[in-house]
Amino acid sequence: MVMKLCLLFFILASSQAARYIPKNLWFGTATASYQIEGAWNESGKGENIWDKFLHDANRDQNGDVTCDSYHKWQEDIENLKKLNVNHYRFSISWPRILPDGTLKSINQEGIDYYYNLIQGLIEAGIEPMVTLYHWDMPVHISELGGFLNPQFIDYFEDYARLVYQEYGPYVRYWLTFNEPYSICNGGYGAGQTAPGLNLIGDGIYQCSYVLLKAHARGYRIYDEEFRPKYNGKVGIVLNINWFEPASNTTADSDARERLLQFQLGWWANPVFNGNWPQIMIDRIANRSSREGFARSRLPQFTQEEIDYINGTHDFFALNTYKTYVAENTEYNITDPSYWFDVGVTWTNLTYYPEGFRKLINFVNDRYRPESIIITENGLQTTDYLNDTDRITYIKGYINSLLDAIEEDKINVFGYTVWSLMDNFEWGSYDSRFGLINVNFTDSNRTRTWKDSGYWFKNILETRILDV
Ligand SMILES: *[C@@H]1O[C@H](CO)[C@@H](O)[C@H](O)[C@H]1NC(C)=O
Ligand SMILES: *[C@@H]1O[C@H](CO)[C@@H](O)[C@H](O)[C@H]1NC(C)=O
Ligand SMILES: *[C@@H]1O[C@H](CO)[C@@H](O)[C@H](O)[C@H]1NC(C)=O
Ligand SMILES: *[C@@H]1O[C@H](CO)[C@@H](O)[C@H](O)[C@H]1NC(C)=O
Ligand SMILES: *[C@@H]1O[C@H](CO)[C@@H](O)[C@H](O)[C@H]1NC(C)=O
Ligand SMILES: *[C@@H]1O[C@H](CO)[C@@H](O)[C@H](O)[C@H]1NC(C)=O
Ligand SMILES: *[C@@H]1O[C@H](CO)[C@@H](O)[C@H](O)[C@H]1NC(C)=O
Ligand SMILES: *[C@@H]1O[C@H](CO)[C@@H](O)[C@H](O)[C@H]1NC(C)=O
Ligand SMILES: *[C@@H]1O[C@H](CO)[C@@H](O)[C@H](O)[C@H]1NC(C)=O
Repeated sequence: MVMKLCLLFFILASSQAARYIPKNLWFGTATASYQIEGAWNESGKGENIWDKFLHDANRDQNGDVTCDSYHKWQEDIENLKKLNVNHYRFSISWPRILPDGTLKSINQEGIDYYYNLIQGLIEAGIEPMVTLYHWDMPVHISELGGFLNPQFIDYFEDYARLVYQEYGPYVRYWLTFNEPYSICNGGYGAGQTAPGLNLIGDGIYQCSYVLLKAHARGYRIYDEEFRPKYNGKVGIVLNINWFEPASNTTADSDARERLLQFQLGWWANPVFNGNWPQIMIDRIANRSSREGFARSRLPQFTQEEIDYINGTHDFFALNTYKTYVAENTEYNITDPSYWFDVGVTWTNLTYYPEGFRKLINFVNDRYRPESIIITENGLQTTDYLNDTDRITYIKGYINSLLDAIEEDKINVFGYTVWSLMDNFEWGSYDSRFGLINVNFTDSNRTRTWKDSGYWFKNILETRILDV
């Protein structure tokens, strides 16, 4: 008894405060197919744009094997079960079930893989949360133009319908596209990610024009054909960091607002409010005209398209990692570029979890979503197991999230750590986000829990955050 009292005293004295985590706030972890599955050329899977992009460049690190989750999914579920998560967010590899992206041939082994994964999760009491597109487009669809070709929308519809048909009875949370900002900016703007196109002045906007309509199609077909039977929910995953203005000048506070609009409003405004943000329409039209273009580099939605996209959400899915400082920057008319259209530069800010609460407030005020789920948040480190830095980071972010929920009364229903385990970070294995370590030089891809994994498990079991 004395011992117990001493221990209790120690706990109370050593922690400043204990916050209770509401029972209805879900905790989970996330991954993506290309980053964890491996088995890139096995069991009938078709080639995806990341396979091709990294093989063509002869990169020594690629997703050929990565965590080998295609074979080790049962072990992954065991780890999720031990963590005590409410949900697991993962993605389906489109070419694993449709090798060339079309319905011409359906790969039954691929269908079975996700069926088994989903059943395994459900048996373990874990809610599956499924991303339809987390960047691994079938090569054939990309050769047809990918997001630059409006026909993409029809191919995506066929794929989405098949997935809803197969897994609709078991999955209640669907995510159409992961991080369209990263997709269009990286793959069709800067060209540093697959498919590697450098079309920073115009292709980047065409990509967004097609992608938003594909998202809307994915939402609408669920709504019409599947919601009556299965009553699930569908959303799009948008990513944005928080920004503080570099100074209190109007120029910098305008710059901060512009950056938020060009990065988040670009997607959220059409889906939640209808049409592109006005600031994008105006600035891109203005610069396009001064650059000598006959029309704006930003495609114009018809009223019919606006209506089709507007309202295609059942919640707001948010990925966020950091806070930066935004500064107004004027660019002369030179080569057309998204970055010159934005006219803002930013620098990183040290650890600032309060930015998370501000961002959640921003999302809630501007887009008035039914509810919000954090679909990704986490810290990138190098390879070590004693990751107290990750614990500090996640703790601060959850604390800030609880402020948003309890004090600002914002309806956030879930928080998802990126990532369940170390995985292939789109070009490198050195950048590690996992709660669980993966040994990538070991052919067995051995998983070892990090300190943050044990810590997260404890939070989920006690529902108490020591801050
Ligand atoms: C699959 O790819 C690996 C390289 O990751 C290669 O060694 C192997 O031969 C390929 N298998 C087939 C069936 O093509
Ligand atoms: C802006 O003004 C506020 C209030 O006067 C001050 O606390 C803050 O430090 C200022 N920010 C900057 C970046 O100068
Ligand atoms: C988008 O939908 C909302 C809700 O129905 C509506 O109030 C708004 O006017 C629509 N936006 C546009 C641009 O049509
Ligand atoms: C572009 O915007 C500037 C500043 O508002 C304005 O002076 C100029 O007339 C605009 N040019 C065009 C072509 O719209
Ligand atoms: C814009 O052009 C003017 C005139 O050529 C030049 O003085 C200025 O440095 C340029 N600004 C930038 C940001 O390049
Ligand atoms: C910003 O990032 C750079 C490069 O990653 C790093 O060297 C620097 O310390 C960071 N600055 C702050 C304030 O975090
Ligand atoms: C983690 O452990 C290594 C030794 O294995 C040590 O060098 C390092 O300082 C430790 N880091 C922390 C954050 O404790
Ligand atoms: C990773 O696996 C390799 C090969 O089995 C082994 O030599 C190495 O010690 C392992 N690394 C760690 C940190 O356990
Ligand atoms: C490979 O991993 C499995 C599951 O973690 C384990 O049971 C087995 O002993 C490991 N094999 C080797 C050779 O490390």
